[in-house]
Amino acid sequence: MKKLASLGLAAAMATSVMAAGHNFEINVSKKGAPIQSTMYGIFFEDINYAADGGLYAELLINRSFEFPNHFAGWDISGKVKLMADGPFDKNPHYVRMEPAGHNDKHTMIENRGFFGIGVKGGEEYRFSMWARVPDGGNAKIWIDIVENATMGEDQKLGNVGIDISGKEWKKYTAVIKPRRSFDSAHLRVWGDGRVTTDLEHISLFPTDTWKGRENGMRKDLAQALADLKPGVFRFPGGCIVEGTDLETRYQWKNTVGPVENRPLNENRWHYTFTKRYFPDYYQSYGLGFFEFFQLCEDFGCEALPVISCGLSCQYQNSIRDEKKVHVAVEDLDPYIQDALDLIEFANGDVTTTWGKVRADMGHPEPFNLHYLGIGNEQWDEKDNPVFTSRLKRFMDVLSKKHPEIKYIGTTGPDSEGWKFDLLQPRMKELGVDLYDEHYYRDENWFLGKAKDRDGNPLNCGAMRYDSYDRKGPKVFAGEYACHGRGKKWNHFETSLYEAAFMTGFERNADIVHMCTYAPLFAHVKGWQWRPDMIWYDNQNMFKTVSYYVQQLYGQYKGDNVLACSMDKKPVAGQDGQDGLFATACFDNAMNAVIVKVANVSDAEQEVKFAWTGKAKDLKAGFKSAEQITLRAVGMDDENSLDNPLKITPKTEVIEANANEFKIPAKSFQVYIFKK
Ligand code: AHR
Repeated sequence: MKKLASLGLAAAMATSVMAAGHNFEINVSKKGAPIQSTMYGIFFEDINYAADGGLYAELLINRSFEFPNHFAGWDISGKVKLMADGPFDKNPHYVRMEPAGHNDKHTMIENRGFFGIGVKGGEEYRFSMWARVPDGGNAKIWIDIVENATMGEDQKLGNVGIDISGKEWKKYTAVIKPRRSFDSAHLRVWGDGRVTTDLEHISLFPTDTWKGRENGMRKDLAQALADLKPGVFRFPGGCIVEGTDLETRYQWKNTVGPVENRPLNENRWHYTFTKRYFPDYYQSYGLGFFEFFQLCEDFGCEALPVISCGLSCQYQNSIRDEKKVHVAVEDLDPYIQDALDLIEFANGDVTTTWGKVRADMGHPEPFNLHYLGIGNEQWDEKDNPVFTSRLKRFMDVLSKKHPEIKYIGTTGPDSEGWKFDLLQPRMKELGVDLYDEHYYRDENWFLGKAKDRDGNPLNCGAMRYDSYDRKGPKVFAGEYACHGRGKKWNHFETSLYEAAFMTGFERNADIVHMCTYAPLFAHVKGWQWRPDMIWYDNQNMFKTVSYYVQQLYGQYKGDNVLACSMDKKPVAGQDGQDGLFATACFDNAMNAVIVKVANVSDAEQEVKFAWTGKAKDLKAGFKSAEQITLRAVGMDDENSLDNPLKITPKTEVIEANANEFKIPAKSFQVYIFKK
């Protein structure tokens, strides 16, 4: 036995019992199914303040005064009037600030941001607004970033004055540098004591956004996404694609063009859970389809937009009201046209209508869209093909006009059951390229031990895809996460089970072409749904263990599956396999064999990698090797804002030709053997 370096957790594992050894047979010569570049990706939905208040770096809430409560997020004092004939037709409201009537009185508006405004001392913040002096002449506006809950003498963390002039609307900008950090500042805008001024689209961004873009993303959060090395990026949802009703569905055309004129939309997550109710949660669309495509380009991954198929959320709408809440099949043309226009926006020449919109936004080159999702969690009724009748209309038109695009249908909201059973064969009949599966399930499901109400085993766990039809559409596991029983969220154990489960994705790479964990982001003060992959407040963020699992799969994705078995059976936590899950692949760029092993049992497991293959490969051996370990002291341990690095992968160099390992109880290991 070649003893490998201890992980310093010996004490915690002192009670572990060493189990009898297991042989993994791994064929290093025979390259199996290619692992798609899209295999491990990210799924973004504006839930948990993921866009406004999260990735989108705008620091002010309700910047255009378009919330139904037009002053939501703003405190006002003095003479402030709401006006509705502003310069942006889709966002017509603005404020008129009139002199308060006395030199010692001030007209003032103050924005509280998203759970406050997080600022860092010494860094620059770019303020901007549209303004005019309606009666002509000049006026002065003061902008203060304030620590309004201050104990100190001066509330101002930083301020700037802006001179405005003339009756015409103009954009004004200024930079403010707060003198110290504060996580819940406010932005105060106060007017000239003598002159009436009009203000619209009042905005504050950190200057240091991701890639320095003006309408940019929060740098730490975008960097965390880039570090996942995603192969595909699904956006913009989720349920918000469908809308609670048709009116509030996500309409991509409203999210492109100048940000000032992108109309506000409701966000269904503000009211979905009355226990976690956020009345000020709307979608500004500052992060819109252009920005999504741009992020895909930054990350070097495929874009996967999802569009409404004319069905508003089926959970929220009774099928009895079908005519009221869904678009009739014969009236779907505008929805299909939206899809065609989206393809033109992404790929069309600059001379086309939507290609020009893209070019005018600063991107004349196409975005090279290859995938399109039609519908989110849609389903058919047993006697009414609510979804597939609509999907068929889309497919008939789109696949003829754009055969170069791969279309993605869905098997509905469940991993099994009548909806799934009805939809799965219909996806094949309709000829979609992939279908989107969703499963938020418990530990048993992820470990392949779940049963239905009658006690029959469900098709779950790492063996799920071994039995799938190889001639049907490919699988996109578009939303999944292990939801621990007993109200456990983002604790180590569930993430470990995700890692174990994901060996089944890799082993079945011939049929599983994409997977994206969900949801992606959550603001610690504004979440509606958990677990989530990345958490943050206004200043800091932390990555969950699930993030690190995804990252390990993304970084060590490999190009081809290698056969890996135990007693001729897939290593998938089967009976007699002592909680071991494993897969192997070959990575061309690294010129390396990669073996991923999860041990979900309570005992350390002895494992021997028994290499098989061509004599020359076996003789050549490996030049160097590394082992990456992800484990925790306690199964309920988790990362947090206070302790963001409590559980992270640890890399160590191991002997190049080591082949006997002790896999610690409850751990995930990645071995990289370089040729
Ligand atoms: O990820 C949260 C929600 O879960 C998504 O919006 C929806 O598709 C699913 O029900």
